[in-house]
Amino acid sequence: MTDQHSRGAWASRIGFILAASGSAIGLGNIWKFPYIVGENGGGYFVILYLVAILLVGSPIMVAEVLVGRIARTSPMDAFDRILGARTAWRGVGVLSAFTGFAILSYYSVVAGWSLHYLYLSLMNAFEGLSPDAIAGVFAKFYANGGLNLFWHFIFMVLTLSVVQAGVSRGIELAAKIIMPALLLMLLALLIYASTLPGFKPSLDFLFRFELGRVTAAGALEAVGHSFFTLSVGMGAIMTYGSYLRQKDDAVGSALTIAGLDTMVGMAATLILFPILLTAGLETKSGPGLVFVSIPLALSQFPGGQIWMICFFFLLFFAALSSAISLMEVVAASAIDSFHWPRKSASWILGIVVFLLGVPSALSGGDTVFGKPWASIFGRNFFDLFDHLASNWMLPIGGLFISLFVGWFMPADLREQGFKEGSRLAALYPVWLFILRFIAPIGLLTVFLAKLGS
Ligand code: TRP
Repeated sequence: MTDQHSRGAWASRIGFILAASGSAIGLGNIWKFPYIVGENGGGYFVILYLVAILLVGSPIMVAEVLVGRIARTSPMDAFDRILGARTAWRGVGVLSAFTGFAILSYYSVVAGWSLHYLYLSLMNAFEGLSPDAIAGVFAKFYANGGLNLFWHFIFMVLTLSVVQAGVSRGIELAAKIIMPALLLMLLALLIYASTLPGFKPSLDFLFRFELGRVTAAGALEAVGHSFFTLSVGMGAIMTYGSYLRQKDDAVGSALTIAGLDTMVGMAATLILFPILLTAGLETKSGPGLVFVSIPLALSQFPGGQIWMICFFFLLFFAALSSAISLMEVVAASAIDSFHWPRKSASWILGIVVFLLGVPSALSGGDTVFGKPWASIFGRNFFDLFDHLASNWMLPIGGLFISLFVGWFMPADLREQGFKEGSRLAALYPVWLFILRFIAPIGLLTVFLAKLGS
């Protein structure tokens, strides 16, 4: 049996596109992007993010898919497999696994929020509440550490039950139904949002570019988010790419995924901001943004409860398909490199992720010496983990991937890999130029600007 058969492969290119979109589209698009746009003050930030997707995130995504498809193994061994020797590049694979731990630990906490909101919608808890009371529901929940911990636990158990069984047909099949449902739901909400009086002011807020407002911190956040939202920079897409067949179009697939993912992020902001502005609420409301604006809008709807149940179910599912990919990288490293059985690797490492997430789950809550204990280090844990992982670890991982593919891997493998099965073969020189110069120089500039600021 060939290597490819024993490791399994996607049944079709669509299978890969769906699974990778399931990884990319998640809380990053619907929960995180709108709130960091709000915190960074809109316009210029959205544009920086779009530039980062185009010039940094997507080219590196293509690079990751290629490395995966050529090496056909998990990130820890992929670089050495391509070079045919044991090298220091293995360190990039190790960084990937650590990044997976860090991200999943708080990702699961927020995914737990979507479960809590699913539960609240099932209980019809928002019926007849005023806008302020709806905002208050989130604040009260955020402060309740025990409840946060409970949902974090439940979400990790759900994620692990899928990963320990192997990323089975189940999740692929479910993604085939749920991803289109999510897109339709967003489209319906977008149409609704476009009828609100707050729609026009939102457009102004989101697309006005003022160069003077660009800061190093904002640029780093935009670049970091382009990695986070595309699931790039820690080998998740590489792992999924390793299950592609050699003749499948890697470039077209990567660009399709990046396009879909960007559309979902933009749609989420175009839905949530009009709702908030129309209700006269703060756009800088931080991590609670989606959890306030959706109940606010949907409790006005005829049949709103059903819509809300659907929305939080879809949000939960989008989070689950992303969390699975994060956990898969962590587990696959232990399976491939240390030959742990899949079940033990999943449950043991899953417990570590759960424990690592405990401080994040308690971030909004319990006090020590009269201060919320999580802010004793100056910012809360959940922010700290998010900041470290998405603004530093992912872009650093991405920098190494672009350098590896741009400069260190055998040129013939790279060129053949890019052109094989692709209708976009003519883009090769453009892509290579971006990967060799624009992406690394852009990343270094942003790092240095931030360190110097
Ligand atoms: N991209 C996902 C989101 O936007 C999160 C995610 C899943 C991720 N896998 C990843 C982020 C790997 C970075 C790396 O919600």
